[in-house]
Amino acid sequence: MSNSPTKKGIFNASVLQNRGLGDKFSRLSLELEKKAHIPFSNASAGQFIQIDVSNLALPDEKLIPGELSDSARRNILLRRPFSFADIDSSKNSTIVEILYCVLGPATLRMKTLRTTDIVNLIGPLGTGFTISEDKKLAILAAGGMGAPPLIHLAKVLKNRCPNTEIIAFVGAKTKIDLSFFDIKTDKLKIKSDVILGEFAKHNIKTVVSTDDGSVGFKGFVTETLADWLRKNKPDGKNAIIYTCGPEAMLSATAALSSEFKIPCQVSLERRMACGTGLCQSCAVKCRDKTSGGTLYKLCCKDGPVFWSDEVVWE
Ligand SMILES: Cc1cc2nc3c(=O)[nH]c(=O)nc-3n(C[C@H](O)[C@H](O)[C@H](O)COP(=O)(O)OP(=O)(O)OC[C@H]3O[C@@H](n4cnc5c(N)ncnc54)[C@H](O)[C@@H]3O)c2cc1C
Ligand code: FES
Repeated sequence: MSNSPTKKGIFNASVLQNRGLGDKFSRLSLELEKKAHIPFSNASAGQFIQIDVSNLALPDEKLIPGELSDSARRNILLRRPFSFADIDSSKNSTIVEILYCVLGPATLRMKTLRTTDIVNLIGPLGTGFTISEDKKLAILAAGGMGAPPLIHLAKVLKNRCPNTEIIAFVGAKTKIDLSFFDIKTDKLKIKSDVILGEFAKHNIKTVVSTDDGSVGFKGFVTETLADWLRKNKPDGKNAIIYTCGPEAMLSATAALSSEFKIPCQVSLERRMACGTGLCQSCAVKCRDKTSGGTLYKLCCKDGPVFWSDEVVWE
């Protein structure tokens, strides 16, 4: 088992590519300076970085979506947290991949990053997923923008746990919300047959669903997961669920974990001011197993990954 936090640092990174994926999403590839090599080669899936975007300019007026025309002009004082969709750490370079969705002033400015631009970041931060090499089955459940850390986790599991069977459940509101994936649907429009390149390249079976049925099964990702669990009845002692997505989905997955007695790790999101445990802005209400009461943990330091049964779901 390993998810121990690695030593963090403040590093510069050079933009290798910042590629738009549909209207809302982009993939940012960053090459980190040499001294980032050791911390990032030891980073675990589920950890994150805080990027400084305070110096970036807004994109051209006509590229600002109407719904962001007011909020786009807000000053950006705080760094923004992003999970790794991948880390490629070879002898000579450390490349971090981020998948991001444009939601407000910071992510809008990130769209203007060009190859060779330099950004400053802090990381790797937080506590990532626990890898149990003896598990026979790992179930990944991703909702919307919760997918990036699970894409990274899939690669890590494939390398470190070659004997573990992995299955991924991926859900989103609608097909467009999956456009950061390398998605292939079958030409005969058999709806359930959807291939996501990021999982398929590791031979990981994937079950895709959308709330509106525009691709994959119609319904919530937790419904396809529940159906699969009912049919396959995996032995909870040999299985683990890893999940990341909207809080309601995480809470529903936590309920399935307790119904089917399968341990589950959830990656939570909170607004994060510092990302390093100093400002206390990212509290997560947890059970105190010793006293039976509750206590607050920090999402940026104790998390973002928690065991689902330690979180108080409200
Ligand atoms: C550990 C962690 C990992 C993340 N990984 C990714 C990732 O891989 N890809 C990605 O696209 N985004 C990720 N996010 C979310 C990302 O940090 C925010 O979308 C970003 O900071 C938005 O900045 P903004 O200025 O563009 O928009 P803002 O104006 O700051 O936010 C836009 C909207 O998103 C909501 N929001 C912003 N941040 C959060 C948050 N942390 N929790 C809940 N709601 C929030 C706001 O309430 C607002 O409604 C992650 C967040 C955390 C905490
Ligand atoms: S973001 Fe500051 S303590 Fe967590």
